[in-house]
Amino acid sequence: MTTIPSLFQPFSLRGLQLRNRIVLPPMCQYQAIGRDGMVTDWHLQHYGARAAGGFGLIVAEASAICPEGRISPLCAGMWTDEQAQAWRRIVDCVHSQGSAMGIQLIHAGRKASTFPMLPGFSPGSVPIADGGWETSAPSPVAFPKLRTPCAMTREEIQQIPVLFAQAAARSVAAGFDLVQIHAAHGYLLHQFFSPLSNQRDDDYGGSFANRTRLVHEVVDAVREAVGPDYPVSVRLSATDWFDDDSSVDAWSVADSVQLCQDLAARGVDLIDVSSGGVAPAPIVTGPGYQVPFAAAIKKHVSVPVAAVGQLGDPALAQQVLDEGKADLINVGRAALFDAAWPVRAAHALSLDRSDWPVAPSYHRGEWR
Ligand SMILES: Cc1cc2nc3c(=O)[nH]c(=O)nc-3n(C[C@H](O)[C@H](O)[C@H](O)COP(=O)(O)O)c2cc1C
Repeated sequence: MTTIPSLFQPFSLRGLQLRNRIVLPPMCQYQAIGRDGMVTDWHLQHYGARAAGGFGLIVAEASAICPEGRISPLCAGMWTDEQAQAWRRIVDCVHSQGSAMGIQLIHAGRKASTFPMLPGFSPGSVPIADGGWETSAPSPVAFPKLRTPCAMTREEIQQIPVLFAQAAARSVAAGFDLVQIHAAHGYLLHQFFSPLSNQRDDDYGGSFANRTRLVHEVVDAVREAVGPDYPVSVRLSATDWFDDDSSVDAWSVADSVQLCQDLAARGVDLIDVSSGGVAPAPIVTGPGYQVPFAAAIKKHVSVPVAAVGQLGDPALAQQVLDEGKADLINVGRAALFDAAWPVRAAHALSLDRSDWPVAPSYHRGEWR
């Protein structure tokens, strides 16, 4: 009897059963066109195809907790019940194909109101006259080429956990199995914990405890909203990529280890380890380039860790699990072209065909 590679073995997250350890990470589709944050048929076919393609967990794209929290005017939202309702049929479709479905909730802070990353658009802030909006952030420090944000008042900061909690409750009502809090890629929560974007001198700035206060408040509010049995994930940027440069005061892997220990103690069920995004940085990419960050965090936390970043080679994805560097593997861009990446990986890793996560109607498929 051959053993099934761990990539294809089930995994459990606070009672949520995943059929395998392959995750579709959140990827903005910029297709809520003229719909005020409402998802469309595009999203239905996009997520449905990847569920039929065998993913264990699909995490829906960054969906905003309030209109000003959208990355772009075409981004999805979770700030109204109508938006939750529009997600419902997509979640049902994904479930019908055997995948679990989570949703990433976001406030983009100073990186909100930008043009969508679609052909024909350049990076930059959407002018107010063209449907953009004023942005807010911990401090009035602009991300290069984007508009300068207003510094958030204490009242505005204290509204953020409330909005995350409301969006999380809507996500549960829409049928999602997991909520992921977006604390990565230079968006609002990351802007608070990185000294590169947080210059506050009140109790949300300065010390590590102050800079990480908001993410803790968000986690607590979300947990309260979703109840004790529901899985909550946090995606964070493990580093701003200046760990080796003592002249730059930035967020580091050591900071992330500390934060993730605190988050695990607070009841976060899954840490998804990405990097960068708060400021231009000397990022070195390549196959598995963020895995060392996941491994460093995994060594020190008791909860599962997901790795991400150029893990589209099935052998590498399996190796990361075999070496104990992560518990789950995100496959993003490779799955944009290859909706059935898990099936392809099962083939590449020589799984018996009867163990492939293939939809019944596709069982006669071949790559020849
Ligand atoms: C089109 C696109 C949209 C993305 N949108 C999001 C997003 O909504 N939230 C997020 O955390 N990361 C987002 N990302 C980053 C991916 O989730 C992933 O971390 C990144 O692409 C690296 O993984 P990969 O090499 O497997 O693609 C996006 C990436 C792409 C290519």
